[in-house]
Formats: sequence, C-alpha cells, structure tokens
Amino acid sequence: MSLFRKSLLILKLLGFILGSIPLHIRQTLSARSIGKLTAAKSKDGDDKGPLNIVIVGASFAGYTTASFLISALPQDGRYRILIVEPRSHFHFTWTLPRFCVIQGHESKTFIPYGPFLPKGSDQFVRWVQGHAASLTRDTVTIRETGEVIPFAHLVLATGSGTELQLPSRVGANAKADGVAKLQAMQDSVKNAQRLVIVGGGAAGVELATDAKHLYPSKTVTLVHSRDAVMHRFGPELQAAALKGLQDRGVEVILNERTVSEDPETGAVTLRSGRKIECDLCVNCTGQKPASGLLGGFAPEAVSESGHILVKPTLQVDAEGLSHIYACGDVANTGVRNPNARSAMKQAMSVADNIALAVKGQKPSLTYAPHWADCLIKLTLGLVGSRSRF
Ligand SMILES: Cc1cc2nc3c(=O)[nH]c(=O)nc-3n(C[C@H](O)[C@H](O)[C@H](O)COP(=O)(O)OP(=O)(O)OC[C@H]3O[C@@H](n4cnc5c(N)ncnc54)[C@H](O)[C@@H]3O)c2cc1C
Ligand SMILES: *[C@@H]1O[C@H](CO)[C@@H](O)[C@H](O)[C@H]1NC(C)=O
Repeated sequence: MSLFRKSLLILKLLGFILGSIPLHIRQTLSARSIGKLTAAKSKDGDDKGPLNIVIVGASFAGYTTASFLISALPQDGRYRILIVEPRSHFHFTWTLPRFCVIQGHESKTFIPYGPFLPKGSDQFVRWVQGHAASLTRDTVTIRETGEVIPFAHLVLATGSGTELQLPSRVGANAKADGVAKLQAMQDSVKNAQRLVIVGGGAAGVELATDAKHLYPSKTVTLVHSRDAVMHRFGPELQAAALKGLQDRGVEVILNERTVSEDPETGAVTLRSGRKIECDLCVNCTGQKPASGLLGGFAPEAVSESGHILVKPTLQVDAEGLSHIYACGDVANTGVRNPNARSAMKQAMSVADNIALAVKGQKPSLTYAPHWADCLIKLTLGLVGSRSRF
C-alpha cells in the first residue's frame, strides 16, 4: 500500500472513531435516562413479580447486551435479566489459533464472566448455566433442567459455532476441559510431522503460519475451497495473507476441498483425487449461524443461509416477533465478514431498544454495518501481522 493510501486510510479510520464517539455517548446517556424514567412510569409486572428479559448466549453479542442492559434498566424489581449460557467462562476466540500451537498461555482464553458486569447487577441478573433447547413465542425451555422460563423480551445471541471444535471454537463448556483440549491440540501439532489445515479463513491462515513458524521443519499444507485465502476480505489482505503463508513455507492449495480422510494412514484425499499424506488434519471450516432455536418455531424468520432475519432495529423480522431480538454472528445484519466488533455494536442497539420497549416507546435505535468494523489484524506467524479489510 502506498504511503498516500495508507495515510488516507488512517485519516478515514480516525474519522470513523471520532464519528462513533457521539453515538457511544448518546447510547450510554439514553440508556441511563431510559432506565430512570422507567422506574417512575413502568406499569408492567406490578403484581406478577418481575418480567423476564432472557438473553441466550453470552459471548461478544449476548454478554455486551447484558452489560448495557444492566445499566439501562431500572433496578426497581420490575424486570430481571436471565442469561442462558452453557459455558463457565467467556471464550476469547481470537486467541484460539495461536494457543492451538504455542504452549503455556491457553488459560488466558477463558475470562470469568462475573467481574465485568456493572456493579450491583447480581440483584437482578440470574445466570442459567445450560442450553436453551426450544422456544415458543413467550417461553424458553432449558435442556439440562427442563425449566420453562417465560419472557417479555428475548435476545438471541447464539453465534455461529455451536458444533465447532478447535481452532474456531473451544468445543467445551468448562474451563478445565477447554484448557485440556487446547493442550491436547498443542501436543498433536507438536507430534505431527505433516499437517494439513483445511480452510483459509483467519483461523486456518493464523494456525498454519504459527505452526510453520514455530516448527519450520514440519510440512504444513493449507487447503482452501476458493480461489483466494481470506476470501471475505479485500484483495490486498488476500494477497498479503498468501504471501505471508508462502514466505513461511506453507504450501497453499486453492480451489480444492477435502473429500475423505483415511483413518489408518491419516492421508486426506482432495476432490481432484490428489492424496496428501499427513499426521494431523485440522478442520478450520464450518461456521454456520446457530439459528435452530428460532427456526424450530418460526422458520419464516430464518434466511436460506441460516441467519435470523432482523430489521435495522435488530428485532426479528417476522409477524408478531418484535419482542425478540437477534445480534452477532447469528443475525442477518449485512456484515461482510462476521466479527466481534460488529456484534458488540449491535448488542448496544439491542440493549437500548429493549430499554425503550420497556418504557412503552418504540424501539428506534438502528444498526447499519460500517466498513471499519470489518478491519482485521491478521497474524502471519509469531511476528508480523497485517491490518486490512
Ligand atoms: C479464530 C478466530 C479469530 C477471530 N478473530 C477476530 C478478530 O480478530 N476480530 C473480530 O472482531 N472478530 C474475530 N473473530 C470473530 C468473532 O469471534 C465472532 O464474530 C464472534 O465470536 C461472534 O460473537 P457472537 O456473540 O455472535 O457468537 P459466538 O461467539 O459464536 O457465541 C455464541 C454464544 O452462544 C452460546 N450458545 C449457543 N447456542 C446456545 C444455546 N442453545 N443456549 C445457550 N447458549 C448458546 C455459546 O455457548 C456462545 O457462548 C474471530 C473468530 C475466530 C473463529
Ligand atoms: C469440518 O467441520 C465441518 C463442521 O463440523 C464439517 O461440516 C466438515 O465436513 C468438516 N470438514 C472436514 C474436512 O473434516
């Protein structure tokens, strides 16, 4: 990138950051004032005990919704927030490819939930450690206990990785199990002489370059089904990623898929018939929106790609479901490459919209994707990275 274009980009980003400040201030202030007003005016839930606002999933989208909502709601006993989440800790996904390779840092992926919620929130927040198994228009049922929880408002923040394993998601709910899985993966990488990595998104590219950097004598092959790695991003990042891989000595095979894996020899066979001998095959593909909960009861609210259809206010875009919201990777928000920053921005709008709804006003905060939210810092080995789109 030329110096001029780089300077222009930095200026644009600066403009984006400065431009976002009023939004953040407005959202925070409006959330707080909405909360105070509601304390005086809300007439819901008077004699029936508190009304439930249920948040399903507490990762980037759900956890951010919860923390903004806690500040926005009146703490007068009329509403309470229930967070349904099977994991014991927040999983910081960005670190996973690296901690699949380098040893000794894996526990840093697991961040305790409690300490980061606003003070005093334990009064009206209940954690339900488990899975939401099914939905109706106004209840959610918990798989592990069978408990049926009624709700006035619901937030679906179930993401796009429920079935996935390392390196895209941990594939375990308890921290101890997650740490053990990461350590087992590190050992597998260390013990394998020939690695095949399937999938040239961020997880695959980062894992391949880290593995080849730490263990230069291993053979590392990256297989990707498109004609460029990082295909959701712009051409400059695609080229930089390819160069980073090749400079480190990773063999990159494009426009290919794995069709089978020989359980005895470990060799993988590609669609073209080509066989690659390997000791370890790491699957970095398969993210898909976890919309099954809603799909089971309102299939019209789920797109062909499996995303939950939402209005710009992030309310589910289907008849009679405006008290249900979706945000993050599971929602059809038009974000080009699903990312945590967009998920958190959406979560802020969801929290404010629920605060408005609770007050009897129309949810009016809208979310629109912005190119700068999709900026990624891509690592290409243990030193050196690329910040691009
Ligand atoms: C390797 C990797 C690197 C990344 N790096 C970046 C980066 O650098 N920058 C960036 O912005 N983004 C990055 N991302 C993308 C980012 O991780 C996702 O966009 C983000 O995790 C989406 O957040 P989410 O809250 O929508 O969903 P998720 O993080 O997928 O979380 C969904 C949550 O819902 C819970 N859940 C699912 N189903 C149920 C159920 N039935 N009941 C209860 N709970 C349920 C899950 O346990 C989980 O906690 C990266 C992703 C990967 C895989
Ligand atoms: C990788 O995982 C996804 C999701 O679980 C699956 O659909 C796909 O078949 C797997 N691919 C390989 C090569 O194992």
